[in-house]
Amino acid sequence: MTDAATASLFRYTYLATDGAARLGRVETAHGPIDTPAFMPVGTAGTVKAMRPEQVAETGAQIVLGNTYHLMLRPGAERIARLGGLRRFMNWPGPVLTDSGGFQVMSLSTLRKLDEDGVTFQSHIDGSRHRLTPERSIEIQHLLGSTITMAFDECTPYPATRDQAAESMHLSMRWAKRSRAAFEQRNGYALFGIVQGGVYEDLRRQSVDALTDIGFDGYAIGGLAVGEPHDEMLRVLESVTPLLPDDRPRYLMGVGRPQDIIAAVARGVDLFDCVMPTRSGRTAQAFTRRGTVNLRNARHADDSRPLDETCDCPCCRDYSRAYLHHLVKAGEMLGPMLLTAHNLQHYQDLMAGLRGAIGEGRLTAFLETRGSEYASGDI
Ligand code: GUN
Ligand code: ZN
Repeated sequence: MTDAATASLFRYTYLATDGAARLGRVETAHGPIDTPAFMPVGTAGTVKAMRPEQVAETGAQIVLGNTYHLMLRPGAERIARLGGLRRFMNWPGPVLTDSGGFQVMSLSTLRKLDEDGVTFQSHIDGSRHRLTPERSIEIQHLLGSTITMAFDECTPYPATRDQAAESMHLSMRWAKRSRAAFEQRNGYALFGIVQGGVYEDLRRQSVDALTDIGFDGYAIGGLAVGEPHDEMLRVLESVTPLLPDDRPRYLMGVGRPQDIIAAVARGVDLFDCVMPTRSGRTAQAFTRRGTVNLRNARHADDSRPLDETCDCPCCRDYSRAYLHHLVKAGEMLGPMLLTAHNLQHYQDLMAGLRGAIGEGRLTAFLETRGSEYASGDI
């Protein structure tokens, strides 16, 4: 560990464990994060359909932003001139930014990857851009990100062992350059990203490379990219025991409530996923009894709340019939209310997991909640 890292106010402590699961707290320059935590996705400087105050009301303590989207529009230098992303979007808490490589590969056209970085065309206007580890870290610095992610390549699935190895080694060279480019400041953090596909020995090599470099937290990337659910759990089970236990672990882009529950049981602390927000905009709601599609005509005369067990504004003040009407009529309030509910559902799940770990009853919690979600669409 470097002296700068020791002096940092960025700190992870765990208060209780239950099996491999950890109840903990991350302290940052911009406030604490109680873990396990879910980070709502605010790709373009907004958690879509939600004001920041509402996001905070659900219990969220940190939101995610994206290097890729913000560098293209409105531009990182502009956001820096306007006081940084947190000020720009009026989110006073911590922000984690993804480093861009993953989004380049999934969104941009005509991308070309080489040892130094990646050149790509914007999905917005076709303009040409380049990202390297150094530029990604610089952009995240301009954004004022609390937690900066190393620049990596998310290995696609499926990949042969050779492809996964080559990709992982490139990400590890980029991780080293990311670390060198990152300016350590109190309360800010840089996370490395474990790659290696579904190959356990490659994952182990990746963990070794990252822990040699030394990061403030460790993310597990390259999962939930199409591999079967039990493959993901197998990889997770092989990776989390190798990670330093005094640093937060972040499973990128995951997932459904049942995936989060399973990953928490395997020692993961941080999550992000577009699922609650995106589903909210497509009329799909998460409840304790399964997922509900508000487009369905069976809700048209239903005066009951969406979820009797939820006390979010959507469930407190509106009926299923009204939500169905909003969705059918294409009214903006529909996505707003359903996003608020879905984010509340995710935050309640995380609070439930934290309570269960703290009281040593995670196994019972997994059994009840796991089977509730297994009921699927209702
Ligand atoms: N989001 C989901 N998976 C990944 C990944 O492997 N790398 C990065 N940077 N972001 C991700
Ligand atoms: Zn609700």
